[in-house]
Amino acid sequence: MADPFKLQHRKLEYKRLIPSFLLSHRTLLTVLWIVGFILIVVWQRTAVERLLIYRGMASPTRPIPKLRPLVFNLSDFGAVGDGVTINTKAFEKAISEIRKQGGGQLNVEPGHWLTAPFNLTSHMTLFLAENAVILGIDDESYWPLLPPLPSYGYGRERRGPRYGSLIHGQNLKDVVITGHNGTINGQGRSWWEKYRKKLLNHTRGPLLQLMWSRDIYISDVTFRDSPFWTLHPYDCQNVVIRNVTILAPLTEAPNTDGIDPVLEYQLEVKCLVECQI
Ligand SMILES: *[C@@H]1O[C@H](CO)[C@@H](O)[C@H](O)[C@H]1NC(C)=O
Ligand SMILES: *[C@@H]1O[C@H](CO)[C@@H](O)[C@H](O)[C@H]1NC(C)=O
Ligand SMILES: *[C@@H]1O[C@H](CO)[C@@H](O)[C@H](O)[C@H]1NC(C)=O
Ligand SMILES: *[C@@H]1O[C@H](CO)[C@@H](O)[C@H](O)[C@H]1NC(C)=O
Ligand SMILES: *[C@@H]1O[C@H](CO)[C@@H](O)[C@H](O)[C@H]1NC(C)=O
Repeated sequence: MADPFKLQHRKLEYKRLIPSFLLSHRTLLTVLWIVGFILIVVWQRTAVERLLIYRGMASPTRPIPKLRPLVFNLSDFGAVGDGVTINTKAFEKAISEIRKQGGGQLNVEPGHWLTAPFNLTSHMTLFLAENAVILGIDDESYWPLLPPLPSYGYGRERRGPRYGSLIHGQNLKDVVITGHNGTINGQGRSWWEKYRKKLLNHTRGPLLQLMWSRDIYISDVTFRDSPFWTLHPYDCQNVVIRNVTILAPLTEAPNTDGIDPVLEYQLEVKCLVECQI
């Protein structure tokens, strides 16, 4: 049996408790609301910044130095750094302009620039800004086939022609690939998988291959997840590679050797080669 007096007393206690309880709840809600609002503002700002970087519309945080008399920006050739647009034509147009002008610098601005393989030209500097990422398209139908390397005379993994490299050059001189640690990303994962499942009919392509070329300087960029070999100078002279980072998973990437030099050239490797999972 409940004691009526006690019940009455409890009701009173509740009545006294409710306003202060509500009050603290209200304060808590207000505080939460303010914190939430601040979080959303902060999140939006970084999101917008990220989006701009992703779209390639943000200006680089570090100004890009002028290393040749003629300088071009990739976005001026219609490229879109959204990670989805295929920018092969823009790279080709830009590099063809540099060839016509007798040389120049091509700036790859912050953003994710998806592309199929393209060829470099002589007297050019490819400059990858901070947060600039060149993404190799992982659909092999976009990759042109090249004759097998003369030193092997046959495809390394499959007979007959092989896939070219994402960034390629033949019979060039005076080529510089540098930047503020921008990245050339081969998106090798799907290549490795297809290779393991024996779905590829041709030898996989390297990330960067220069053949019969001279006076090559590669520095301050990151090469990541190559389908096959990463840097492959073939029968080149005077190749300098410096302060370059090469990243590939330790276990799941077959034959993504850091640097595969072949035949005669001087190679000065002072680079950081590291692996991560
Ligand atoms: C390239 O872009 C930078 C800013 O990112 C700008 O300062 C420069 O004028 C542009 N150069 C050309 C040739 O459009
Ligand atoms: C690059 O140049 C090589 C040699 O001239 C050529 O076989 C290949 O088709 C070119 N690649 C592209 C993507 O234009
Ligand atoms: C290596 O690259 C990093 C990042 O781009 C740069 O800060 C550093 O100065 C470079 N080191 C040398 C020795 O060039
Ligand atoms: C360059 O960037 C890669 C990853 O994008 C990073 O692992 C490496 O430490 C950076 N190198 C320098 C010298 O900052
Ligand atoms: C490889 O060749 C087979 C038979 O010709 C074909 O069906 C398949 O699509 C080819 N695969 C690739 C990745 O090109």
